[in-house]
Amino acid sequence: MAKAAARYVCQSCGASHPRWSGRCDACGEWNTIVEEAVAESAPKGLSAGRGRKIDLQPMEGESAPAERRHSGIAEFDRVVGGGLVKGSALLIGGDPGIGKSTLVLQVAAALGRFAGAAGTIYISGEEAIEQVRLRARRLGLSQAPVLLAAATSVRDIASTLDAGQPPELAIIDSIQTMYLDNLDSAPGTVAQVRASAAELIRLAKRRGFSLLLVGHVTKEGMIAGPRVLEHMVDTVLYFEGERGHQFRILRAVKNRFGPANEIGVFEMTDAGLMEVPNPSALFLAERHSEVSGATVFAGMEGSRPLLVEIQALLSPSPPGTPRRAVVGWDSSRLAMILAVLETRCGLALGGYDVYLNVAGGLRVGEPAADLAVAAALISSRLARPTPAGTVVFGEIGLGGEVRPVGQIDQRLKEAEKLGFTDALIPPLGGRRKNPASGLRLASIAHLSELVERFGGKESH
Ligand code: TYD
Ligand code: MG
Repeated sequence: MAKAAARYVCQSCGASHPRWSGRCDACGEWNTIVEEAVAESAPKGLSAGRGRKIDLQPMEGESAPAERRHSGIAEFDRVVGGGLVKGSALLIGGDPGIGKSTLVLQVAAALGRFAGAAGTIYISGEEAIEQVRLRARRLGLSQAPVLLAAATSVRDIASTLDAGQPPELAIIDSIQTMYLDNLDSAPGTVAQVRASAAELIRLAKRRGFSLLLVGHVTKEGMIAGPRVLEHMVDTVLYFEGERGHQFRILRAVKNRFGPANEIGVFEMTDAGLMEVPNPSALFLAERHSEVSGATVFAGMEGSRPLLVEIQALLSPSPPGTPRRAVVGWDSSRLAMILAVLETRCGLALGGYDVYLNVAGGLRVGEPAADLAVAAALISSRLARPTPAGTVVFGEIGLGGEVRPVGQIDQRLKEAEKLGFTDALIPPLGGRRKNPASGLRLASIAHLSELVERFGGKESH
């Protein structure tokens, strides 16, 4: 074997540098570069000889549909694209303590019921077997046909999984605790995380079991986060939520076997994660209509419509730079809407602190929420509630124009289902005259029309 060369790898972004430096050029983080040994020598160019000829195939041909396994947890199955694909590798990332171990244990138990003799295996590198058992008992899963192990050596894990009949599903919790003994670097470094994952993924593909890797998202750069693995796995899921809230969102950000952007909604209870089949009702449950500054946004998350309340609070700010605080939405997008309201609609906002919150701990990423955010801001500024029973959606351009958004029918249908009567929407343009909806629709072509609907800026 060639002499191991050293390279310097940023633990935050995974960039490789020829020499050590205090700051990573690629991501700008400080003190994240660590020396790592390169196990294999680099390829020596193509001089060594000719390769074998590979088969080139026509585009058209047979392709069998992927073989899938349903866990029976509908929210999970939908997010992964309709069940776990045999031989696929999934990554579940999320903040520590958000509920990843709880979720994967529930999935293992649910799948174990169908998996029969092959069974599911849960390997924890973080907790002792007694702790996992204790958790399973709390979840009411002590009888579940899941085999447990507390281990961190990938060599041992791989030999175990390779021996005999492969399991249906193997779970590694978490990939940051795993190590390969032929690498010098410590567990949790980019090199270890990547090499351990690669080894396990290769095995999963060869033996045809599904592999679920748990990865912690970390703020500090010292431990390699799930990002460095995203390209290696078939499916990347993120488990999100605010600590103080009981809602948890499982979001597919990459899926080779299904649509990305799909979400599943769970509620964290004393007895583990419960599925939330109708999230809109849940997110709107604690709503008090007739409060100024609150507007219901008819959003889409993946293939599903989701209604959420957007809350704004404007309060006169003390001298100095006004505060802008945002939870659950993009702060630069808020800045843009404030600027458009001020410049294009003449609504004075400069002397106000602005607080914006998406109720329930959800993160909204759609530009379609612009109009609802604007409505909440205007409503708070003019101290007039958004008309009861109204949902709002539409994207806003820098000129103040309201732009069309996709999936109008689904948004309206969901709003109607939940008892809403009115919708403020973008102009339908040449698209189609009337979306099939029982709601009263009012199209808003320019943001100033929205200000007028709240009584106009002159009213204050
Ligand atoms: P956990 O799954 O350990 O998180 P992660 O693996 O992402 O670090 O979940 C941790 C939190 O979940 C913990 O604070 C306790 C809470 N929890 C419940 O509220 N109910 C339950 O039934 C369980 C098992 C955990
Ligand atoms: Mg855990």
